[in-house]
Amino acid sequence: MTFDPLWTIVEERFQRDHQNHAETIFTIGNGYLGTRGALEEGLPGDRRTTFLHGVFDDIPVSFTELANAPDWLELYILLDGERFSLAAGEVLDYTRQLDLRSGLLTRKLIWKSPQGRTTRLEFNRFASLADPHAVVLRASVTPMDYAGLVEFRAGLNGETDNENFKHWQWLNQTTASDRLTLNSRTRASQVELAQAARLTILAPADVQRESWDVHNHPTLVGRTQLQAGQSATAEKLVIFYTSRDNREPLTAANTHLDQLPAPAWDALWEPNRSAWDKEWQTCDVIIEGDDEAQIAVRFSLFQLLVAAPRKDEHVSIGAKTLSGFGYRGHAFWDTEVFMLPFFTYTQPEIARNLLSYRFHNLEGARKKARGNGFNGAQFPWESAATGEEVTPSWVPHFADRSKMVRIWTGDIEIHISAMIPFALCQYWAATGDDAFMIDRGAEIFIETARFWSSRAEWNKQAGRYEFRDVIGPDEYHEHVDNNAFTNAFARWTLQSAIRLLDWVEKKDSAAYAALKSRLDLKPAELRQWSQVAELIYFPYDKETGLIEQFEGYFARRDIDLAALEPRTESMQVILGIEGANLAQILKQPDVVMLAYMLPALFDERSLRANYDYYTARTDHTYGSSLGPSIQAIMSCKLGLQEDAYEHFMRAARADLRDVRGNAGDGIHGASAGGIWQALAFGFGGLTVTTDGWTVKPHLPKHWKRLVFRFTWRGKSYVIDLPEKGPFRLEEA
Ligand code: BGC
Repeated sequence: MTFDPLWTIVEERFQRDHQNHAETIFTIGNGYLGTRGALEEGLPGDRRTTFLHGVFDDIPVSFTELANAPDWLELYILLDGERFSLAAGEVLDYTRQLDLRSGLLTRKLIWKSPQGRTTRLEFNRFASLADPHAVVLRASVTPMDYAGLVEFRAGLNGETDNENFKHWQWLNQTTASDRLTLNSRTRASQVELAQAARLTILAPADVQRESWDVHNHPTLVGRTQLQAGQSATAEKLVIFYTSRDNREPLTAANTHLDQLPAPAWDALWEPNRSAWDKEWQTCDVIIEGDDEAQIAVRFSLFQLLVAAPRKDEHVSIGAKTLSGFGYRGHAFWDTEVFMLPFFTYTQPEIARNLLSYRFHNLEGARKKARGNGFNGAQFPWESAATGEEVTPSWVPHFADRSKMVRIWTGDIEIHISAMIPFALCQYWAATGDDAFMIDRGAEIFIETARFWSSRAEWNKQAGRYEFRDVIGPDEYHEHVDNNAFTNAFARWTLQSAIRLLDWVEKKDSAAYAALKSRLDLKPAELRQWSQVAELIYFPYDKETGLIEQFEGYFARRDIDLAALEPRTESMQVILGIEGANLAQILKQPDVVMLAYMLPALFDERSLRANYDYYTARTDHTYGSSLGPSIQAIMSCKLGLQEDAYEHFMRAARADLRDVRGNAGDGIHGASAGGIWQALAFGFGGLTVTTDGWTVKPHLPKHWKRLVFRFTWRGKSYVIDLPEKGPFRLEEA
């Protein structure tokens, strides 16, 4: 089988005990929906999911989750009466491949049935990027040593659930000889989903057809006689529409199906292929001299691209994209801080959609602020359809699921309310999209500045404003006071809001007047922000250059992490939740993260001092997957390329090698986004400001070349960094 190894994820052996991990890796999608790489014919223990952006439904405890749609993948195959299944028989030959260049997933195998019949099978599927309502799969079957009847059963299975919780109510269904529809609605959120499917069979002999009108599981059947060596191919085409995107989803699905020829593969394939070509032209990264890094990067970018909403500004990308049950589809700061820069610098329209999601959901954030007794907008730590807080307060303990653990992040991990303004500024600097800042950005700034100003507590004795009882980025430490990252970003948001409003007033006085009156903004309020900002406590030790992560951090138990190597578990598992809280061990960069995001706060000496201090105390391998890419960037900034490479490869392997053992829950989207940042801002040394950009490369020794692309102010650039010599810059 020919394939380009630098564009292909390959599974060479069927490994049943890794099936959930493989399902995540082989996720396909198109920014409208995502389908895990479960097998068409099913396998006990599989997690067969298709998630559609924005299709959430209520659940107990965790409030809401993406509802796993009725299964479109299902295709049962009977080979002369024996049902094809990898749970039985013998797999004689096997490969599965995901072509990252086109989004095509292929499985080829030779299977010997329990009764000894040998069959060659090939499966292909893709979710069209050009026609996001269409998904299609194809299965070809060739009996090798027998003649017999081959039967395909293609159903739309409405009896799906989210790990035992059922979201869909049946509304209606239709069956005809070659097509069927299933119309369902989520129980509480009342989102309607229409699916229309068609089964086309290409075979040398006659095809006998049936349709089974099974309640909530309509099925199309085709049977044909094959001689040894002859092949039959079944194509299952499924169209999806929801009431989120169409007033009459069922009519839309039927009409769309009618417009596609039978078979539809070729008609869908070329547009899909060229849509993917266009995508990669905006963002492909080339690494020469390191094939593992090369494929991992393309894989990460692919996973971001299949999850990116291109036509919808009311959805975000969840921490686990659309690729698994993990975090229930909720969006965190992962989107704005880790994934968004990739879009901001390669496809700013997508970044704009994602930022607009936060704008449209300001009401949820206002509600949260009000509920907590604060002003303005307090963005939820976990966000779903409405922007209200949806972090569960209790979850089962990781070691003993019969015990519950209180989760505080939704209550006190407040830095997200600065991360969204920060991402807005980054988008603005890169695109120069003034209109967006005036129309949407300014309101987000005003409302978050209001939150920060009201959340600050005045410490009369010390004469400073403080933020008490918070969780910073490093979640091993809960209920801390004056987390440096949080305090610095509170100040940054307040000061940036004042500067932005000053700019809006000068740029568009009518818009400024409208904003002021709509949001009832008074000069006294701006003065208050400025006063709070000026007096926010920031724990900087002039003598050592160290910034204490939070008050009292340096007094906590110091543990020599290096002495505990090699480890196979996170420090939180080793020390327990309370033990980690009382130690100086970090789950992920915190002060170092601050140095990455607000470099002006650090001079060379303090950058080095903080990097050294905190790097030695961070749980790089088993802590948060958000950490390694940031750590890699900061190592590059200090000229420590080899350390940078080690951190980078931790991020690159996070999902492909299932480092934390939880890749089956879905892709670590933040790690995928961080990988792009590590390449562009770390190894590539790209720095972008409102005035322009510069590149100062720091390639690992064995890399021969790094090429990456980005757009700045509407122009696209290709940065081509050979191992030695000056870099080449091309305007694309
Ligand atoms: C990390 C957070 C992150 C969340 C979702 C947690 O384990 O500590 O920073 O936002 O996962 O990915």
